[in-house]
Amino acid sequence: TAAALDRAESLILSIPDYPEPGILFRDITPLLADAAGLRACIDALIEPFAGTFDVVAGVEARGFLLAGAIAVAADVGLVPIRKAGKLPRPAAAVSYTLEYATATIEAHDIVDGTRVLLVDDVLATGGTIAAAHELVDALGGVVVGTAVLMELDALGGRAVLGGMPVTALFHA
Ligand code: PRP
Ligand code: MG
Repeated sequence: TAAALDRAESLILSIPDYPEPGILFRDITPLLADAAGLRACIDALIEPFAGTFDVVAGVEARGFLLAGAIAVAADVGLVPIRKAGKLPRPAAAVSYTLEYATATIEAHDIVDGTRVLLVDDVLATGGTIAAAHELVDALGGVVVGTAVLMELDALGGRAVLGGMPVTALFHA
């Protein structure tokens, strides 16, 4: 419900100057720790995409926390998209720039044509999700959209995703 989501949003803390001066960090751990808040968010992340995806792909690390819950609630499989060097059989790799770092992500092979929902906690510049999209494309999957808890509107992430359907439960 809208009230449950409003309450869930209130559980996301904004931490100034973490992990670096000038960065306002969105701390979702109080939301994750709250059963009703977590349930409301997981259901709302799935709802726009229900029935349209075969697997959910979460981006290490915070995307994993949501992907596991979404996979079980939506009765789909899970594909981990990991930071470089963590997987034994990487089938593709994509490098990208973050708000406060650079990174490379990798994944194992997936079956051609697999419909993939991308999930993460925050959409900021869009670099992470754009890279995840490129990675899934390289593996032969089909990205149906992206679901995030929070979109930081001023950073313009949605605009770099080329019209991909994006659901964001909260905006800042
Ligand atoms: C954070 C966040 C998103 C990404 C959003 O991940 O969890 O994945 O940045 O930024 P972008 O839209 O500008 O790419 P980060 O890699 O910093 O940390 P994590 O490993 O804790 O998820
Ligand atoms: Mg992340």
